[in-house]
Amino acid sequence: MNLEQVSKLESKLLVSTYDRYPVLLHKGSGVHLYDNKGRKYLDLLSGIGVNALGYAHPALTKTIAKQAKLLVHTSNLFYHEYQGRLAAALTKISGMDRAFFTNSGTEAWEGALKLARAYAKANCGEGKEPKWRILALEHAFHGRTFGALATTHKEKYRAPFAPVVPGVEFVRFNDVTDLESKFDSTVCAIGFEFVQGEGGIRPVSQQFADVAHKLARKHNALLIADEIQSGMGRTGRWFAYQNYGIQPDLVTVAKPIAGGLPLGALLATEKVSACIHPGMHGTTFGGGPLACAVALQLIKVLEKEKMLKHIQKVGDYFMDQLQKLKKKHGNIVAVRGQGLMIGMELDSAEAAKQVFQQMLKRGTIVNRTDETVIRFLPPFIIKKQHIDTAVQQLDQVLAQNTKTAAIAGRNK
Ligand SMILES: Cc1ncc(COP(=O)(O)O)c(C=O)c1O
Repeated sequence: MNLEQVSKLESKLLVSTYDRYPVLLHKGSGVHLYDNKGRKYLDLLSGIGVNALGYAHPALTKTIAKQAKLLVHTSNLFYHEYQGRLAAALTKISGMDRAFFTNSGTEAWEGALKLARAYAKANCGEGKEPKWRILALEHAFHGRTFGALATTHKEKYRAPFAPVVPGVEFVRFNDVTDLESKFDSTVCAIGFEFVQGEGGIRPVSQQFADVAHKLARKHNALLIADEIQSGMGRTGRWFAYQNYGIQPDLVTVAKPIAGGLPLGALLATEKVSACIHPGMHGTTFGGGPLACAVALQLIKVLEKEKMLKHIQKVGDYFMDQLQKLKKKHGNIVAVRGQGLMIGMELDSAEAAKQVFQQMLKRGTIVNRTDETVIRFLPPFIIKKQHIDTAVQQLDQVLAQNTKTAAIAGRNK
């Protein structure tokens, strides 16, 4: 089938949740994707921050093929050899104590919210003040299921499905005064992305993170780090909170964890895990042998190839090049991020739309988020030469847009 046929079939039969880009993908290799006609694309988005090792990485394809022949699924009623080993690897790199595996990011976040409420119930006792408020941040994105949605800030995601889960309040981004005014002993958890993704690649300030941590300790509330987009090395450390020297009580991981297979994880400290008992929480698919075997292999490759160092190096290079573009092009408002999680904010939604579309025409995939921000989440294996290609294209596209805008202004 060609692109037209596929798109016609989908528009008739799929629930209309996505406005897809007009590209019919066929295969991938390294940092490149190929469409059905063999056109090559440089991928600076990796799914949406999923394909950490790019496409068809030999170590992952070998593990997938081997494990597919042995065992793809068991229920969580039985043991298989990979969950415990993956939990060992994840707790080692995160400083957490225990893991619960899920299918997706939103499911991991949902589990974190449930654990926060269960922890408060188990620890605040009957007859005391209710302790079930949850604080989240302005611009936050935590997923699409009801709890995750309740902690996701944008009205457009929540409003059509209201009422969402009660008890959530939003704190103004990086506003310590607002945080202090909303945090009291009725709060059971504060949860945030140390580097917001969907919200426009916004790192929280060290001061905000420190105060959130201190208030959580003071009120026996939990600090939940959403590392679904920023985790597994994306920011140049295993987890973004490690850039802040803060250890959370709960950590959610997903996207890149199994190199493209659906898997998520909720990591918890011993004291928080203690409030969950068999039967209270669960999942059918989460933590299956295929996804867990691949995740183990992914961590092995990241370690063996010293990928965190590589991410820091190419991330810094990418950031420097974008800062140079900012000096040259007045419509770039800001460049921010950590490691290979970078945002370039433009002065209008239309300018960002143009950049995205023009880049796609030139064969490079980027993403527009929070209306005005061009988001880069390339595969970790990206090299300097790929960044040079993309930056050169961005330079041309931004120059062309300024020219077009000037002509349009003169013709008004
Ligand atoms: C920070 C963050 N949290 C949660 C989610 C939800 O993850 P999923 O789409 O796997 O449910 C996302 C997805 O974009 C995310 O970026």
